Amino acid sequence: MIDHRANVKRTLFSALFFLLLSFGNKISAQDGKAIFSDNCASCHSVFKDLTGPALGGVTARGPWTDRKKLYAWVHNPAGFMQTDPYTQGLKQKFGGAMMTAFASLSEKEIDAVIDYVEKTFKAGPPTAGGGGAPAGAGGAQVIDEKDNSILYGVLTLILAVVALIMLQVNSNLKKLADEQDGIPAYEPIPFYRNKSYITLITLILFVVGGFFIVKGAIGLGRSTNYQPEQPIYYSHKVHAGQNQISCLYCHGGAMEGKHANIPSVNVCMNCHMTINEYTGTAGKLYREDGTEVNGTEEIKKIYAASGWDPATKKYTGKGQEIAWTKIHNLPDHVFFSHAQHVNAGKVQCQTCHGEIQKMDEVYQFADLSMGWCINCHRTTKVNFGGKNGDEGNKFYSIYKKYHDEIKAGTRDSVTVNDIGGLECQKCHY
Ligand code: HEC
Ligand code: HEC
Ligand code: HEC
Ligand code: HEC
Ligand code: HEC
Ligand code: HEC
Repeated sequence: MIDHRANVKRTLFSALFFLLLSFGNKISAQDGKAIFSDNCASCHSVFKDLTGPALGGVTARGPWTDRKKLYAWVHNPAGFMQTDPYTQGLKQKFGGAMMTAFASLSEKEIDAVIDYVEKTFKAGPPTAGGGGAPAGAGGAQVIDEKDNSILYGVLTLILAVVALIMLQVNSNLKKLADEQDGIPAYEPIPFYRNKSYITLITLILFVVGGFFIVKGAIGLGRSTNYQPEQPIYYSHKVHAGQNQISCLYCHGGAMEGKHANIPSVNVCMNCHMTINEYTGTAGKLYREDGTEVNGTEEIKKIYAASGWDPATKKYTGKGQEIAWTKIHNLPDHVFFSHAQHVNAGKVQCQTCHGEIQKMDEVYQFADLSMGWCINCHRTTKVNFGGKNGDEGNKFYSIYKKYHDEIKAGTRDSVTVNDIGGLECQKCHY
C-alpha cells in the first residue's frame, strides 16, 4: 500500500522533471536565436554569405570542430587570427572585413548561438514564397515559432493527461484505503461519465482551442520575413548598397505622400539604357535556393519590359510594366503615411524596413502589427527643438502648449504619443 504510493509519486515526479527539462532546453535554444539576432545577424546569416560567411554547418569547418577554439575566436577574433591561417584566409575572402570581438559572451551563450544556427541549418532553407530566409534577421524564424506553439500545445496536453492520471490514481488509492478500513465501497462511476472529468476536459479543450484560434486570427495577413521571388532579380545591395543610389531616387513618393511607390520601368531605363550588363562589381548574386543569377540576363528583362531594342537603340512600343510582387501590406482599415514619418518625423527607412541596402532580395522586416506602431509611438520623441532657442520641426508649431512647457523647463521632451499618436482614429479609417 505505502509502497504503491511511493512508486506512483516517484513516477509522476520523474515525468514532471523530464517535462521541465524539455522546457529548459527550449528556452536555451530560444536564447540562442535572440543572441544571434542581437549580435551576429548584422553580419551573418545561416544560409547566405553576408559581411561574414554563412554560419550554417560551421561546426564541421576549419578549426571549429574544437569548441574551445570557437570560443577563443568569438571572444577575440583579431588575437585568434594572428596564429591561424584558416581565418586569415577567410578575412581575405571577405574583402578584409574584420569580425567584432564579443568578449562578454559566455561559453554557454556561444553554445546556444551555435546550437540555434546548426538546428536551423539542419531544417534546411525555407522555400521561397513561404517563410523565406531573411538575409539578416536570424534564419528560419517563422518556422521556429510555429514549432513552438505546437510544442506548447503538446505539453499542455501531456500535462492534462498527467493531471487526469493523478486524479484517477488518487481516487483508486482512496478506495483501497477505504476498503482496508472496512468502509463499504460504492459502485464506481466510469471516468467518461464522471462530471468533474468532463468539466475538466471541456475546459482544457476550450482554453487550448481558443488560444490557437485567437492567435491564428490575429496573425492572419501578418507576414514577417515574407520574401517573394520577383519577376526580375533586382538587388538593393547592388543599387542602394554598392552603387549608393539614394532610396528616394526610386521611392521619392515617400517624401510627399502615403506611398513610397515602386519605380516604373522608365526609371530603370534612365541608367540601363547604357548599363546593359552586370560586370559583378558587387560580387556574385544568388537566389534563395542557392542557384546563381546571371545579372546580364536579368537586365535584358528590363529591355523586354520597356520595349527597348538594344540593337537598334530604339523603343519598339511593345513593352509591359514589370509585375513586382508587393511585400508590405497593411490591412485596408489602417491609415499609414510615409511622408508623415519620413518627412515630418525624420524616421529612417531602415528603422521600419531593416537594412535594405544590404539585401539582395527584399523581405518584410517588421511585422506591421498594431503593437509595433504603438510601441514606437510611445517611445519615439518628436523634434520640438530645444531650450536653446532652436525651433525644432516647424510641423509642430501648432502645439503651443508643449512649446511653452519646454521653454519654461517643465517638460523636456514630447513623444508621438503626446501629439495623439495612440488615438484610434489617427490610424483607423
Ligand atoms: C561586424 C561583422 C560581424 C559580426 C557582428 C559577427 N561576425 Fe562572425 N565573422 C565576420 C567576418 C567578416 C568573418 C570572416 C573572418 C574575418 O574576416 O574576420 C566572420 C567569421 C566568423 C566565423 C567563422 C566562420 C567560418 O566559416 O569558418 C564564426 C564561427 C563567426 N564569425 C561567428 C560569429 C558569431 C557567433 C557572432 C555573434 C556573436 C559573429 N560572428 C558576429 C563578421 C562578423
Ligand atoms: C534603383 C531603384 C531603387 C532604389 C535606389 C531603391 N529601391 Fe527599393 N525597390 C525598388 C524596386 C524595383 C522594388 C520592387 C522589387 C523588390 O521588392 O525588390 C523595391 C522594393 C522595395 C521595398 C519593398 C516594397 C514592397 O513591395 O513592400 C522596400 C521596403 C524598399 N524597396 C525600400 C528601399 C530602401 C529603404 C532603399 C534605400 C536604401 C531603396 N528601396 C532603394 C527599387 C529601388
Ligand atoms: C514608420 C515606418 C516606416 C518608415 C520610416 C518607412 N516605411 Fe516604407 N512602409 C512602411 C509600411 C507600414 C508600409 C506598408 C504600407 C501599406 O501597405 O500601405 C511600407 C511600404 C513601403 C513600400 C511599398 C510601397 C508602398 O508605398 O506601399 C516601399 C517601396 C517603401 N515602404 C519604401 C520606403 C522607403 C524608401 C523609406 C524611406 C525613405 C520608407 N519606406 C520608410 C513603413 C515605413
Ligand atoms: C541610377 C542608376 C540605376 C538605376 C535607376 C537602376 N539601375 Fe540597375 N544597375 C545599376 C548599376 C550601376 C548596376 C551594376 C552594374 C555592374 O555592377 O556591372 C545595376 C545592375 C542591375 C542588375 C544586375 C544586378 C542585379 O541587381 O541583379 C539588374 C537586374 C538591374 N540593375 C535592374 C534594375 C531595375 C529593374 C531597375 C529599375 C527598378 C534598375 N536596375 C534601376 C544602375 C541603375
Ligand atoms: C519607428 C517608429 C514608428 C513606427 C514603427 C510607426 N510610427 Fe507612426 N509616427 C512615428 C513618428 C516619429 C511620428 C511623428 C511624426 C509626425 O509628427 O507626423 C509618427 C506619427 C504618426 C501618425 C500621425 C500622428 C499624429 O498625431 O499626427 C500616424 C497616423 C502614424 N504615425 C501611424 C502609424 C502607423 C499606422 C504605424 C504602423 C503601421 C506607425 N505609425 C508606425 C514613428 C513611428
Ligand atoms: C499607431 C497606429 C494605430 C493606432 C493608434 C491604433 N491602431 Fe488598431 N491597428 C493598427 C494596425 C497597423 C493594425 C493592423 C494589425 C495587423 O494587421 O496585424 C491594427 C488593427 C486593429 C484591429 C484589428 C485586430 C488586429 O489586431 O489586427 C482592431 C480591432 C484595432 N486595430 C482597434 C484599435 C483601437 C480600438 C484603437 C484605439 C484604442 C486602435 N486600434 C489604435 C494601428 C493602430
